[in-house]
Amino acid sequence: MSTLLIKNGRIVTATDDYYADLLVDGETVAMIGKALSVQADEVIDATDRLVVPGGIDAHTHLDMPFGGTVSADDFETGTKAAAFGGTTTIIDFAIQTKGESCFKGLDTWHQKAEGKATIDYGFHMIITDMPVERLPEMSKLADEGVTSYKLFMAYPGVLYVDDGTLYRAFRQAGQDGTRICMHAENGIVIDEIIREAAADGKLEPRYHALTRPTRMEAEGVHRAVAIAEVAEVPLYIVHLSSADALKEVKRARMRGVDVTAETCPQYLFLDQSYYFKEGFEGAKWVMTPALREKWNQDVLWKGLEFGHLCNVATDHCPFCMKEQKELGLGDFRKIPNGAPGVENRLSLMYHGCVVEQRMSLNRWVELTSTAAAKTFGMFPKKGTIAVGSDADIVIFNPNRRETISVDNPFTHHMNVDYSAYEGFEVQGWSEVVLSRGRVVCRDGKLETEGGGQFVRRARVGELLR
Ligand code: URP
Ligand code: ZN
Ligand code: ZN
Repeated sequence: MSTLLIKNGRIVTATDDYYADLLVDGETVAMIGKALSVQADEVIDATDRLVVPGGIDAHTHLDMPFGGTVSADDFETGTKAAAFGGTTTIIDFAIQTKGESCFKGLDTWHQKAEGKATIDYGFHMIITDMPVERLPEMSKLADEGVTSYKLFMAYPGVLYVDDGTLYRAFRQAGQDGTRICMHAENGIVIDEIIREAAADGKLEPRYHALTRPTRMEAEGVHRAVAIAEVAEVPLYIVHLSSADALKEVKRARMRGVDVTAETCPQYLFLDQSYYFKEGFEGAKWVMTPALREKWNQDVLWKGLEFGHLCNVATDHCPFCMKEQKELGLGDFRKIPNGAPGVENRLSLMYHGCVVEQRMSLNRWVELTSTAAAKTFGMFPKKGTIAVGSDADIVIFNPNRRETISVDNPFTHHMNVDYSAYEGFEVQGWSEVVLSRGRVVCRDGKLETEGGGQFVRRARVGELLR
């Protein structure tokens, strides 16, 4: 096993901030101390750099069949791009096909990832139906380290499940000590609004947003909260996009309901005006929920600051403009829903939190790494820097500026032909990225490929060794 000494860095976790040296022995952090005098196979000088836990993106869709095509990043390209951006663990979504066992879906996703992933990965399980006789499967999944589920109120006829199914799955998940992730949007009403728009010939990309009112997201949150409360299960609202929806989360939390929510960089940095760009350009941002009116951004930033929003994930679900988004030329209903972002999260959030002085360095680390580790059963193996933790470490240059662009080799390795953040200037860049002790990326070059492992996650409230 090789050793690596990181010297003179400023170690920042969700709670600490100090200057020290750090010794990695094999896959884990072995020692942290002042001016460590130890021999190591490799020494990295981290003067003027932040040394932070590797990012955790709790919401990605790699190699996912969706919208008549398959997301453009698979586990090989997607995890490399994530690593370039300082993310060392993802939680992707395995899908259970209607009428089939969750384990079949899980096997399929293991096959997609095994031998291809460069960073570590876990799986949430998407449930598309759950008759009473199959409920015991859920308990077995938890034993396999799949301790969270995603269910959809959106996408009728595809991933949507009815309220009865929600209740059954919620109840079982609660009894098993697992967590429910909810896509909260009233897809049934939204489909009616879409039908009306289409009947009026309103088929340009902007109608994707105009047919998905924030009230329908808020209604979804409200309903999910009520069902979770009765079913007694911890609830996590995914990709929360609007002030309307956040209000429902706050209300529930004030009542003492165990509900938290994530938002995504796209809802913090982008807005509905992107759909009004020339021609078919708006298709780049056709995602669900849709981008909202700009004033929502401030409310979401405040939600992160005050803790009603607990995590920032990307919902990375890339589709190329060419041949994929183009499926919806002339009809927004056929544009595959999703956008890329897994590579840009740490820099964008550093810029938005620290450079723009909204939040502390600690809160930035918490929002991009620690909170996901704690929420999804990976702490303290992941999500912090401590003796015994996995050496998933980012040496972060807080001063380096980059302009995010599909043409910038320092910001774009995702297998997709555009950037959702084209032209955004950000300060802060992941310079060296370690995954379980291996240097994966250094100065924009990939040094290690493959080697990512499945993370068997713990149940809610349990620590992962
Ligand atoms: O548009 C999106 N978000 N695509 C991925 C599927 C989902 O709802 O998360
Ligand atoms: Zn969703
Ligand atoms: Zn998603």
